[in-house]
Amino acid sequence: MGNDSDDEPITLSADAFNALSQFYQEQDEREKAWSGETVEVTAEVKEDWQLSQFWYSQETAEQLAKMVMEAVKENGRVACVSAPTLYRAIKAINKDFDATVFEYDKRFAAYGSDFIFYDYKSPLSVPKECRESYDLVFADPPFLSDECLTKTAVTMKYICKDPKKLVLCSGAVMEELAGRLLDLKICQFKPEHKNNLANEFRCYANFDFDALL
Ligand SMILES: C[S@@+](CC[C@H](N)C(=O)[O-])C[C@H]1O[C@@H](n2cnc3c(N)ncnc32)[C@H](O)[C@@H]1O
Repeated sequence: MGNDSDDEPITLSADAFNALSQFYQEQDEREKAWSGETVEVTAEVKEDWQLSQFWYSQETAEQLAKMVMEAVKENGRVACVSAPTLYRAIKAINKDFDATVFEYDKRFAAYGSDFIFYDYKSPLSVPKECRESYDLVFADPPFLSDECLTKTAVTMKYICKDPKKLVLCSGAVMEELAGRLLDLKICQFKPEHKNNLANEFRCYANFDFDALL
């Protein structure tokens, strides 16, 4: 005689079922990325809050993409440091545009040779060929801390060609440090996010970025 409780079918609540489905879907996406299988550059990648991921709204991503592309013109190279949505928006406008995404989240390895693994804590641990090789460097660091911005600034200066064109998107609270480290000034253009953030976010640049609006 079997134990009654062993014979009962296992059932999941709707919430548990949805959570499990989402887990398997994300696992599938991660495996695709790590196996080198190419995914559509335009495909949506879910925000991972553990990695402080806050994606731009569609409108902001497109606007920023147009502005950085205009800033470097057709044959320029753009580095998107911790800003994968910007990279995606650039490629959606012109898939042949020369852009690179420097990212910690390995899901973006799906972008192939345009992806460079990057951890802001090791600011110079990027391939040697990246040194002074971008016409414009755009960064949106994961944390609103002096340590994170200071280290990201080292990378930005290291990979940018002279004369350096630098754009930063970060909290309004980082204005003073952005000015001190990189000589960046606050822009009129205000970035918006898909999900509203508690902190005020701003753009900073060392050239007239607003003129490209
Ligand atoms: C505030 S979000 C900026 C995203 C940007 N708003 C976008 O839409 O593309 C911070 C970014 O930093 C990345 N990140 C998280 N940890 C990192 C680390 N240790 N080093 C570098 N980047 C990191 C996240 O994956 C995320 O893309």
